[in-house]
Amino acid sequence: MLQSPLPEPDGSSIGRHDHHTVPCGRRIAISIPVSFAASVPDDTSALILPIRKGDSPDAVTKALPEDAAAALKRAAEASRFEGDLGAIVEIFADTHAGTRRILLVGIGKQPDAESLQKAGGAAVAKLLTSGETTLIFDASGSDVDDAGSNMAFGALQRSWRLDSYHTKTPEKNKPSVTDITVIAEDEAAGWERFQAIYAGIALARELVTEPPNVIHPQGFVERCRPLAELGVEIEVLDKDEMTELGMGALLGVAQGSAAEPKLLVMRWDGTDGAQEKPVAFVGKGVTFDTGGISLKPGPGMEDMKFDMGGAAAVAGAMRALAGRKAKAHVVGVCGLVENMPGSNAQRPSDIVTTMDGQTVEVLNTDAEGRLVLCDAMHWVQQKYAPEVLVDLATLTGAMIIALGHEHAGCFSNDDGLADQLLAAGKTSGDAVWRMPIGKAYDKLIDSPIADIKNVGPREAGSITAAQFLHRFVQDGVKWAHLDIAGTVWIKSASKLWDKGATGYGVRLLDRFIADNHEG
Ligand code: BES
Ligand code: MN
Ligand code: ZN
Repeated sequence: MLQSPLPEPDGSSIGRHDHHTVPCGRRIAISIPVSFAASVPDDTSALILPIRKGDSPDAVTKALPEDAAAALKRAAEASRFEGDLGAIVEIFADTHAGTRRILLVGIGKQPDAESLQKAGGAAVAKLLTSGETTLIFDASGSDVDDAGSNMAFGALQRSWRLDSYHTKTPEKNKPSVTDITVIAEDEAAGWERFQAIYAGIALARELVTEPPNVIHPQGFVERCRPLAELGVEIEVLDKDEMTELGMGALLGVAQGSAAEPKLLVMRWDGTDGAQEKPVAFVGKGVTFDTGGISLKPGPGMEDMKFDMGGAAAVAGAMRALAGRKAKAHVVGVCGLVENMPGSNAQRPSDIVTTMDGQTVEVLNTDAEGRLVLCDAMHWVQQKYAPEVLVDLATLTGAMIIALGHEHAGCFSNDDGLADQLLAAGKTSGDAVWRMPIGKAYDKLIDSPIADIKNVGPREAGSITAAQFLHRFVQDGVKWAHLDIAGTVWIKSASKLWDKGATGYGVRLLDRFIADNHEG
């Protein structure tokens, strides 16, 4: 029995106006409380009205005082506002309660859940530090399901930031928004689900954003321990246990670092034991990737703090699934190591023996992710015999060359599984694009001296990395590998995130489970 009666660890619940807190009980990032109401309160809090592209403002301003409606219409015309997704018109209008800020936010021509999220995100990006304290989202004119909740969900995503290391922020630059009200009483019951997914995204972003001197393998584990309060069973394997199990590939990566490696295992069973075999998620958790002895160039190396983005997505997904009490059985495994050069580091040409017995010639110590994943994947297959295994990893720079920052690459031995992930990508917003695998690519990683070499030629670098992992997938297991190198960290802000960590993978895995492994 893994279910827990405890409340959400961030203490939030419908209608409660708590202080800014963060999932897992840490007061470092903000999570704005969201409540629901039947009608727009009679006060001066900021009012945000989503509007479809091409619609006249009249379509959404019927409940406003005549003067305010006229002013909005005039402002929309005067600023060439057409309702494009995320476009905004803002006015201040006098009401009998005082002067109210009112925004029209475009949701595009054929709005869906994601458009409403993006509109909420665009609004909060504009208002987060504006001085406004309460934001009211009134999407009662929209026919999208849970329109108001989706706006609030997008607003939470866009408002996330890690501010704990700024010690001198002037008061006027700090977030002013303290709460959000959604005008849709009937959506209140469904909010917990959004809240749980947001908490998962926030956890993933926190893990990715925190520096590598904080999120080393042990630090990562500590941030995930509070998931136990939600009923997640946590198991942590230390170096000695992994040595005992023969995880030579994972340990070889870790041996150059003073930080001890960890294998973090999080299991959620929302089926009360009815679903015997869990779906397995495995994440690459290289808490910093210097390249090891095959050292990376200095400029840009700081990016490699996000090399644990796969593990962060797995942890975030477990947070989301447990938080919304998903009726599914899922195990998430994070292979946590730091890849450092040093007198004990592994050398290019070392040969290591993996837990499943295959030997690997390590020609490039910077191709370390596959070495970590192969042992983590083998371990979870031995222990839980999953029928479905999905791994997520910031595995190759070549993936960014191929797909940029818009899609993660999906490599799979099963068309059905790949289709499920692609579909979940479309509905969740975490986009996925299918990539090929096959025998001809597999040949490229045969080693003259061991079973496998850890790098192929320069070309098809993302595919040969996937072929490496494929060699560790047991017969009959449906497996997909998501190379998320380009999607976990974005250098420019978008409607759902500020520049930095995106939390990629949490929405995707949550959707994938909801659509294929529940009920
Ligand atoms: N973590 C990197 C991949 C990466 C690079 C992710 C840039 C995001 C941005 C990975 O461990 C790595 O170094 N891969 C090498 C593989 C090569 C040595 C075969 C790469 O992509 O260059
Ligand atoms: Mn590397
Ligand atoms: Zn790496």
